[in-house]
Amino acid sequence: MTHISQRVQSLAVSATLAMSQRSAELKARGVDVINLSVGEPDFNTPEHIKEAAKRAIDENYSFYTPVAGYMSLRKAIAAKLKDENGLDYAPEQIVVSNGAKQALCNVILATVNPGDEVIIPMPAWVSYVEMVKLAEGVPVPVVATIEQDFKVTPEMLEGAITPKTRMVMLCSPSNPTGSVYSRDELKALADVLAKYPDILVLADEIYEHILFTGSFTSMASFPEIADRTIVINGVSKAYAMTGWRVGYCAAPLWLAKAVTKLQGQYSSNCSSIAQKAAEAAYTGSQECVEEM
Ligand SMILES: Cc1ncc(COP(=O)(O)O)c(C=O)c1O
Repeated sequence: MTHISQRVQSLAVSATLAMSQRSAELKARGVDVINLSVGEPDFNTPEHIKEAAKRAIDENYSFYTPVAGYMSLRKAIAAKLKDENGLDYAPEQIVVSNGAKQALCNVILATVNPGDEVIIPMPAWVSYVEMVKLAEGVPVPVVATIEQDFKVTPEMLEGAITPKTRMVMLCSPSNPTGSVYSRDELKALADVLAKYPDILVLADEIYEHILFTGSFTSMASFPEIADRTIVINGVSKAYAMTGWRVGYCAAPLWLAKAVTKLQGQYSSNCSSIAQKAAEAAYTGSQECVEEM
């Protein structure tokens, strides 16, 4: 007998993970495959980060941590957001999760009600649509073409907004296209969003350091929308730590509290050892990021 909920039946299998697994199977059979599925750096985790994890084990960082993560890590993240991105988030506004993936899903589950619309510029990372469906929201794709360098214009964004719009998702630098919105392009989108104070902005900035063109600007740097912009980031891509599973959201305090409540009921804290490694990543030398 099987009994799978409608919720799970309506979800697609993670296409990136399925492709990655298929590629691993083919490689194991000796087939020469180029795996373009998961966004995985071609580097090993830097030595000083691995050492911090080993130390954490020896020093018995083996107990439950606060649900939102060790305060020392959240302080290190707040300092990173201030120093690198010029953003003002208190440590209490940061919730550490099992990768940016859980951070994204947490925010969507904590804010989207059944029937709420979520605008997703396309092409987009495959999980966005599924996460919105999980929350029983309605994904609203806004398709940008190659002629537009896969970037939506302010007119396209505004055209997709309805009274039911709860959130706009943005990913710059983008997976899968690699496109990077310039500061001016983001400002033009922020100017549209400034007119709609009830819309949240979910900015996935996990590829901040993987730039093949342009330069990175955080969507939270525009004061007119900063208090309802949620930044998603983590150590996976910048520090070659995809398997360690440390990501975070930086959010308004009311939302950070709601996300903590949610995560506290279904996964608790992210691994204590991985958190100490992430702390070393943020507080140690940043040369490794440049090198990679
Ligand atoms: C656009 C985007 N956001 C988020 C993630 C998830 O990152 P993490 O490994 O930290 O969960 C990925 C992973 O590939 C991604 O491509």
